[in-house]
Amino acid sequence: MFVVVGVTGGIAAYKTVHLVRRLIGEGHEVHVVPTADALRFVGLPTWEAISRNPVTTSVHDDVATVRHVSLGQRADLVIVAPATANTLARMAAGIADDLLGTTLLATTAPVVVAPAMHAEMWRHPATVANIETLRARGVHVVGPADGPLTGGDSGPGRLVEPDDIADAALALVARRDLAGLRVVVTAGGTREPLDPVRFLGNRSSGRQGVALARAAADRGAEVTLIVAHVDADVRADAAHTGIALSAVGTALELQERVTDAAATADVVVMAAAVADYRPAEVATSKLTKEANAGRLVLELVENPDIVAGLAAARPAGQTIVAFAAETATGDELLARARRKRERKGADLLVVNEVGWERGFEQVENEVRVIGEGGAVLAAATGTKRQVADAVWDAVLASR
Ligand code: C5P
Repeated sequence: MFVVVGVTGGIAAYKTVHLVRRLIGEGHEVHVVPTADALRFVGLPTWEAISRNPVTTSVHDDVATVRHVSLGQRADLVIVAPATANTLARMAAGIADDLLGTTLLATTAPVVVAPAMHAEMWRHPATVANIETLRARGVHVVGPADGPLTGGDSGPGRLVEPDDIADAALALVARRDLAGLRVVVTAGGTREPLDPVRFLGNRSSGRQGVALARAAADRGAEVTLIVAHVDADVRADAAHTGIALSAVGTALELQERVTDAAATADVVVMAAAVADYRPAEVATSKLTKEANAGRLVLELVENPDIVAGLAAARPAGQTIVAFAAETATGDELLARARRKRERKGADLLVVNEVGWERGFEQVENEVRVIGEGGAVLAAATGTKRQVADAVWDAVLASR
């Protein structure tokens, strides 16, 4: 999506850096349009580096591309954060003496403003009237939040947290093509205990699974996300009104939870990295070097193949998606993926190549989706969110 982020001259402008990062992380093309005053708070190089696009405040730069209207015309969404009392007044009056002003007049996309100012300014009849005018024109107003303000006072006027602004703005333009579907997604790596302090684990960060859950929730699905071990920042990403989160530790716990949840699901996506084996016995006290001098032999037993079990018992109409992380390349990668899909009885199998430097803990991913008869239904490269959207597109197309 093509998103214009207007930034105006308030101290909260630094928080908008996070908003832009989030939008970029989700694969959107972001153009930042600051006012001249905004640049007194956060400088132009920051906006250019974060958005990966040129930034200017002036209608006289890049005139050949008719930039003063082209950004607004191309926008799918415009967010102004923070929006000062002055900018809200200029918007209400339709003043267009800088690039943000012209962009706002030229756009027909949804416009979201996140006001930030002192409580007195927010309550002033001029601001109240301007907000009323903007609302009546269809502008979406997010916040302000109530709380401590920069001068040490407190009241309505704080910028809403950047993630909440992003959620509210993206919800306005989100595709709702998964509305009505109940989906279960598993994410992260299971941990199989050896003794009270040790476990056998894997390098899965949970990023792709959580991105799949978020994408589904954004697109209207009712999501149950079952997480094994995931990195802390990834877990924070799972906070979403459309996601019911449930945490597990071992493969057997995951099996129980996902089997329960799958009973009423339309789609099950097994993105979790499930341990194929677990220690045959879990020691009740810590294994010691004293007791295992020089060498420790562990006996492992095989875990059930959860996705194969789900596929064998699936209710009519349920779509099962398995994942395969393979260290093979080229034709061998596809051949293994096709065999794995057959063996597990999954409808779709999402395969990616992994290695010491590939796949795990990375922000970007590259996958192919294998379907009926081994056909490659989709190929996607990009952020894990872009990959997630491509997987859901393939799921929808296959149903
Ligand atoms: O066989 P492999 O571990 O490569 O299979 C990966 C796929 O199978 C993933 O979808 C994973 O969630 C699932 N799996 C499972 N139960 C296991 C091992 C893997 O459901 N014991």
